[in-house]
Amino acid sequence: MGTYFEQWKNMHRNELCWCGSGLKYKRCHLDFDERLAGIKVNYRQSKPSHKLIKNDTDIREIKRAAAINNGALDLMGEHIKAGIDTLTLNNLADEYIVKHGGIPACLDYEGFPKSICISINDVVCHGIPSADTILKDGDIVNIDITTIFNGHYADASRMFMIGNVTPEAKQLVEVTQKAMNIGIEAAQPWHFVGDIGAAIVKFVKPYNYSIVTALTGHGVGNDFHEEPYVSHSAKKDTGMLLVPGMVITVEPMINIGKPDVYIDSDDNWTVYTEDGSLSAQWEKTIWITEKGPVVLAE
Ligand code: MF3
Ligand code: CO
Ligand code: CO
Repeated sequence: MGTYFEQWKNMHRNELCWCGSGLKYKRCHLDFDERLAGIKVNYRQSKPSHKLIKNDTDIREIKRAAAINNGALDLMGEHIKAGIDTLTLNNLADEYIVKHGGIPACLDYEGFPKSICISINDVVCHGIPSADTILKDGDIVNIDITTIFNGHYADASRMFMIGNVTPEAKQLVEVTQKAMNIGIEAAQPWHFVGDIGAAIVKFVKPYNYSIVTALTGHGVGNDFHEEPYVSHSAKKDTGMLLVPGMVITVEPMINIGKPDVYIDSDDNWTVYTEDGSLSAQWEKTIWITEKGPVVLAE
């Protein structure tokens, strides 16, 4: 992370930029700060603080975390099949991440007991891997992995379909993936984070599914969960302004039935759909650049 000055407004053009790039302010974020200062926001909008702006070093490290994370998810794809237990998948991912110099971020995160999340069928997210949980034909499975590399985080999840899944389940998985990608396309610099949720709502509407609102995407990169919250069901031109240098996740959870969810009272983690309907989720970590969103982890 760079070094940040509280009094950036008083920065001289020839001082080193607050972002930690080592460049003079006038050659780095001076124009950015002027543009940001010129934007007036209403009561439903906010502007990001400088601590959410990643510099090139941060991005390089997040990309390294992402490369390990992507590799771990690829490995899951090679091993996942009917009959495998989810603890075996957890252990394979953990070994892979550690072997490549990373740390699995979920392990011990606020007491989470395993290295990755595996969420099956009506489990919305935060499923805990277990030797007793055996995948079976027809399951739809989300694997969510976050890797730390040198203090930097990359977060992504994918759906896997085990053997023959019903056409209804397959459609849910495919629509949710498309929803994520449409949300990412809406994550444009100098536009608002609410545009992401608005685009997802518009795309998902004809399917009569429900978008989960109890859990959201988030800023990520220098910590696991940073500002802003990224709602997957929102209105255009609301929430935080997205600007170049921000890194966020887009990770819609979509249910075939109602949007309501509850947390398992025994493990305090597993999130289920209240009506028992199927749920799907996909997640990518993206970097907002002047030219648009760039995918880092997927
Ligand atoms: N990876 C999840 C996310 O997308 C968070 C998992 S937290 C854990 O934000 F503790 F359950 F691992
Ligand atoms: Co996330
Ligand atoms: Co995640």
